Amino acid sequence: MGALSGIFLLQDVQESLAEYGREFTMFVTDERGSLLFHSEPSRQGRPSNLADDPIVQRILSSPTYPSSAVNYSVTRFMGNKRETDLVTCAPLKNRRWLLFSQVDREKYYAPIVALKTQSTVWIGLSILGALLIGLWLARLITRPLSDLTEVSRDLAQGNFHRRAEEKAKMEIGELARAFNAMADDIQEYILKVEAAAAETQQLFMDSIRAIANALDAKDPYTRGHSERVSAYSMIVGKEYGLDERMMRIIEISSLLHDVGKIGIEDRILRKPGALTTEEFEIMKTHPPKGAAILGGIPQMREIIPGIRHHHEKWRGGGYPDGLKGEFIPVIARIIGVADAFDAMTTNRPYQKGMTFEKAAARINELCPAVYDPVVIEAFNRAYHTKAFLGHQQNVAEAKLA
Ligand SMILES: [Fe+2]
Ligand SMILES: [Fe+2]
Repeated sequence: MGALSGIFLLQDVQESLAEYGREFTMFVTDERGSLLFHSEPSRQGRPSNLADDPIVQRILSSPTYPSSAVNYSVTRFMGNKRETDLVTCAPLKNRRWLLFSQVDREKYYAPIVALKTQSTVWIGLSILGALLIGLWLARLITRPLSDLTEVSRDLAQGNFHRRAEEKAKMEIGELARAFNAMADDIQEYILKVEAAAAETQQLFMDSIRAIANALDAKDPYTRGHSERVSAYSMIVGKEYGLDERMMRIIEISSLLHDVGKIGIEDRILRKPGALTTEEFEIMKTHPPKGAAILGGIPQMREIIPGIRHHHEKWRGGGYPDGLKGEFIPVIARIIGVADAFDAMTTNRPYQKGMTFEKAAARINELCPAVYDPVVIEAFNRAYHTKAFLGHQQNVAEAKLA
């Protein structure tokens, strides 16, 4: 009867095992290690002794017989592979039988490892998502700010046409609107200042021309001289390669180059014949006189060298300072050539004006004694330009007048 109930019990166990888990291996031994039941069908009904099996040995070699469930692990080496089994051994009630439950450690923990991996992936994805949302939000806030920064930089660099985007809501949009209003005001002021500066510049140049014309009007023979010398000087200066700033200096300096003649008596200035030695000595004072007239105006400081030195000679011997070569300011060297060319091509009380061609040839003959060879190279290039030769007609008309 007892054996029959044992068979039913083992059948129940077997059915339960089939239902609950295939990962577990279960077997029952008696107190000497003889196999009574095995969950694997292939090992059922085949009596064997497991006393030497490490799982069973562990319990049988223990000095005390287990009175309750014992958990332990057993490691085996299958070649290079190491496998660990988790074992629970429980004594069966009222018998000296032992129930062993054995599971591969890796298989046992596999769901936990999978869960851990899954959690790590989900946590990673959540962090990435939060990061992306954070970046998007940060960009939403910083974009209008960086736009505003860029527009401010443009404004500081003189680009007054760009405006900040006003789409952003809240304070940033308000800031952009206030900024744009300020940019509008600045642009308006700048335009006003530019217009005022252009007007002042025009007034200044008109005043310079008025002085030059007043000077030329003192002597009928020199009418238009200052304007022509200025025109020739600028064409030669451009060929010489003067920069924009130097071109402005030479324009004003050439217009005023003879301003010192204001201080020369009319009887010398308007004398129809050749000047005596004394008269010429007085005439030679017009460059320093001109420099002195403008000397009191700090803004004219750069204009003065062209006025003071336009009668110097490249190899020396000119006036007022007898400077030589590179010591003569380049502006004065250019004005000197333009001045001589106009004097040669216009009628004077003591000579009839030469043709442009003859005067140009004469200028070249006087190089390098009087004129800088580099300036003469620029003069020869300038001479062939339309702008220069265009004055031929004006000069011819002036001669007839
Ligand atoms: Fe002069
Ligand atoms: Fe002159």
